Amino acid sequence: MLVSAKEMLEKAKAGHYAVGQFNINNLEWTKSILQTAQEMNSPVILGVSEGAGKYMTGFKTVAAMVKAMIEEMNITVPVALHLDHGTYEGCYKCIEAGFSSIMFDGSHYPIDENVAKTKELVAVCKEKGLSLEAEVGSIGGEEDGVVGMGECADPQECKMIADLGVDMLAAGIGNIHGKYPANWQGLSFETLDAIQQLTGTMPLVLHGGTGIPADMIKKAIDLGVSKINVNTECQLAFAEATRKYIEEGKDQQGKGYDPRKLLAPGAEAIKATVKEKIELFGSANKA
Ligand code: 13P
Repeated sequence: MLVSAKEMLEKAKAGHYAVGQFNINNLEWTKSILQTAQEMNSPVILGVSEGAGKYMTGFKTVAAMVKAMIEEMNITVPVALHLDHGTYEGCYKCIEAGFSSIMFDGSHYPIDENVAKTKELVAVCKEKGLSLEAEVGSIGGEEDGVVGMGECADPQECKMIADLGVDMLAAGIGNIHGKYPANWQGLSFETLDAIQQLTGTMPLVLHGGTGIPADMIKKAIDLGVSKINVNTECQLAFAEATRKYIEEGKDQQGKGYDPRKLLAPGAEAIKATVKEKIELFGSANKA
């Protein structure tokens, strides 16, 4: 069932668990994530970066594929199709393509411009029934060309954006896209707590879910995080399983070169990663 992320995140916030956003890159990724969410009876958010959308030939292809898969695979758990770190133009493209949720990443604009653009998109999304995520304070590292310095968000600015009526807010709290460096300082729970106190029932989003230790994830959920984004971890799991298959020479045995066989271990590895995250985030049986 393709839905906006609004209701599933409100339920998560009230129930003190988080819904996973897993980024997709192709058919195998999408199928593995949908299958796992259904098996675990969990709501799920499929994240699409602008780079991944382009790779899959465009947002319309992505929306058509996801809608058809939900139908053909009899997926009954709530699924949101969400633009990840959208530009202003990208947001409008995804609204037109049939996404059910978008993120407008205005964190690199001066706060007044972030507010103005977010406000405009709040009105458009409300009218069309999509959920909207906004961002304050950048997420560190790089994801598909989106580079952030990783500064912690200003709680007052978070309140300004939350008060516009967005459905979820991504706030930088020392989190980073990709692998965490050995000297990483950890999440700033002080910042998260201050943001949560000013934004009340607003579901907060934790980007850079890859590699955050389980105890930090649990504490972040306790402090109001209701959506956690995971991208790199599925890529690492897929690459490792695929490499193992090839290094063991399995692509050269029988019809092991058949893409349905060659890509199967990677797809299974994505499923195992998604399952582990759904268990950690507490969203199993919350569909
Ligand atoms: P990771 O790649 O670090 O898991 O981050 C994912 C993310 O935040 C997507 O926006």
